[in-house]
Amino acid sequence: MTLWDKGYALDETVARFTVQNDPVLDRRLVRYDCRASLVHAEMLARQGLLSAAELDALRQALAEIVRQDEQGAFAIRTADEDVHTAIERFLTERCGEAGRKIHTARSRNDQVLTAIRLYEKHELGAIRQKLASFRGALAELIGRSGDVPLPGYTHMRRAMPASVALWLGCFVESSFDDERLLEATLQLVDQSPLGTAAGFGVPLIDVDRAGTARALGFARVQSNPLYAQLSRGKLESTVVHLCTQILFDLNRLASDLILFGMTELGFVVLPDALCTGSSIMPQKKNPDVLELVRAKYHVVLGEEAKLKGIIGNLMSGYHRDLQLTKEPLFVSIDSTEECLDVMAVVLGSIGIDEQRCRAAMSDELYATERAYALVQQGTPFRDAYRQIGRRFVGR
Ligand code: ARG
Repeated sequence: MTLWDKGYALDETVARFTVQNDPVLDRRLVRYDCRASLVHAEMLARQGLLSAAELDALRQALAEIVRQDEQGAFAIRTADEDVHTAIERFLTERCGEAGRKIHTARSRNDQVLTAIRLYEKHELGAIRQKLASFRGALAELIGRSGDVPLPGYTHMRRAMPASVALWLGCFVESSFDDERLLEATLQLVDQSPLGTAAGFGVPLIDVDRAGTARALGFARVQSNPLYAQLSRGKLESTVVHLCTQILFDLNRLASDLILFGMTELGFVVLPDALCTGSSIMPQKKNPDVLELVRAKYHVVLGEEAKLKGIIGNLMSGYHRDLQLTKEPLFVSIDSTEECLDVMAVVLGSIGIDEQRCRAAMSDELYATERAYALVQQGTPFRDAYRQIGRRFVGR
């Protein structure tokens, strides 16, 4: 039975269509919705809207849902529509009247916002850790081979001398910027929408929004209830943007590793354990792992565009369109986490072929240095540039 059941039957096709993939997607929200539901119930009890016994029954039933969820046994049925209804159904079956009271002073609109916010906070923490591990893997490789010289390229042509430390160090520094963006994103996400209900607050009841925000660990309350609705999808697209920024670095690094690992260059050695084979060519050891990391950037760019598209052009307030912002968010977060993990593994076991790197340090890489040696002796830069440059004409 749906939460909005008023005694008529919904067309089966419409029911299935409006539910979409929520019973599957919402599984990852169960624990967060339970946490928020408990804090909400505690608030209702403080306001005298639930008795101590009712609160206790709800607390136990919510703990049971969390236990079942941990074992993958908490079911969200299509008939439930989504996680919020599934939880309320369970609570009503277990606790009777208390279950029928828990939705006092909230709407599924602020409920889903709250659950997603808690999920995002948790995942941003996980991404922060994975970003640090990825950076640790870069630092470890720099520690192993940072001093090895490497040609620096512009336009994919030899430019100036560089080193493994300079090359990989650029990704270290960029990851610190990604971390700054993560902290800023976290600040936006760290606001409680609970108690804004459908976007217009709750009549007659004194909802302790500051209390529930504090209990859920939010830094502040999202004040304007309609803004809470406006921020649905808007904040998610900020999180997804962070994902694209992180994946952009991984995309570049993957491109470098693929190129530097080519037989023709051979600066980087991918051990067999990182390479996948060909079904026809027996000799092949391919960097599929890096190619997929490279592609995930584009996948998540697509998710960002999808999400930003879904939320546009709507009148202020909730619309069912917003339900479709969950999948791009989840796909983007999953992709980012798995790419960070796999790149840390790759960096942990690739080698740098010092001989091949040194052999590539050809004369032309030092042309700029030669020009500057002349500058040091008093030659104007443009003259020094021409003097050295002439040697390379027609070569
Ligand atoms: N599953 C819905 C979503 O993610 C929950 C909110 C439903 N609210 C409503 N007014 N129909 O958006």
